[in-house]
Amino acid sequence: MTVSPNIRPASKSAIADAAAILKRGGLIAFPTETVYGLGADAGNDRAVAAIFAAKDRPQFNPLIVHVPGLAEAETFAEFTPLARKLAKAFWPGALTLVLPHKKGAKLSLMVSAGLDTVAIRAPSNALAQDLLRAARCPIAAPSANRSGSVSPTTAAHVAESLKDAVSLIINGGPAALGIESTIVGFEDGKPVLLRPGAIPREAIEKIAGPLAGARDAKISSPGRLVSHYAPDAPLRLDARNVADGEALLAFGSAVPEGARLTLNLSAAGDLTEAAANLFAMLRALDACGASRIAVMPVPEHGLGEAINDRLRRAAAPRDVP
Ligand code: TXA
Ligand code: MG
Repeated sequence: MTVSPNIRPASKSAIADAAAILKRGGLIAFPTETVYGLGADAGNDRAVAAIFAAKDRPQFNPLIVHVPGLAEAETFAEFTPLARKLAKAFWPGALTLVLPHKKGAKLSLMVSAGLDTVAIRAPSNALAQDLLRAARCPIAAPSANRSGSVSPTTAAHVAESLKDAVSLIINGGPAALGIESTIVGFEDGKPVLLRPGAIPREAIEKIAGPLAGARDAKISSPGRLVSHYAPDAPLRLDARNVADGEALLAFGSAVPEGARLTLNLSAAGDLTEAAANLFAMLRALDACGASRIAVMPVPEHGLGEAINDRLRRAAAPRDVP
């Protein structure tokens, strides 16, 4: 694979350059502990619009605002005691909270795509933290891939997906968690799981009590299109065998033979390892020329909920809006 000239190894000067680009209204890609983000100054309308253009993202799909921590988040969003408790328990980390806008906060309206709420999180990745502190602005960042395709967990994925739409990519190595943040919103004060993600439901429920599902709630994540995270090859879920011409995304130790290429999410059956491997393996299987990707069953508990959510979306018919 050719190395794109705008990938920079992590360093003080790369962070300083990225911060300067953000200040000028440009786009940069940076690592977080979940997936790589495509960042812009969240207070700059034109910069945020450039994100939508680079991703070919439907304009109604709002973005997550990244901040160093709770103190900064409180300047942009209205926290309830429960929201604050969740932020204190999981930040910095892979939890995104959807909260009402704070009046007068300087955020581009495009960030929220017309909603009266804002999605906000404090990432734990050290380079993301360095960048946020150097840039001294909130960073609006979706995953750094074209809309609808698989989220990037390495700098090379970003370069492949966005090509020269981004002026600088900070290389922080493979994302530690490999799956997007868990998104929690509130309806009548009660917590709602808007997107399963890198923090398992069970961990959040220990602090917040039972989470309602997005399907039961009136609010939803408008970006949660049914077909999403989709590779080019179709997926066949719940596979226990392999058909001619298929590649196999395996899980566990009892793996059927005969696939054109087999990659195992976790031979040991470890869901954390599986989440970290998911997107990179989908990409590699997609690239091997198989007619279809067969996917072995993954248990539904813990991180399995987020993994299965992404797999079902990747397998959904592509023409569903
Ligand atoms: O781990 C992550 O969350 C990564 C890293 C880069 O932080 N970001 C990410 O962003 O996954 P993105 O844009 O690919 O997904 C953000 C999701 C979308 O489904 C969007 O609809 C939802 O967050 N969202 C954003 N603002 C919202 C709001 N105000 N209300 C409901 N959902 C919102
Ligand atoms: Mg995304």
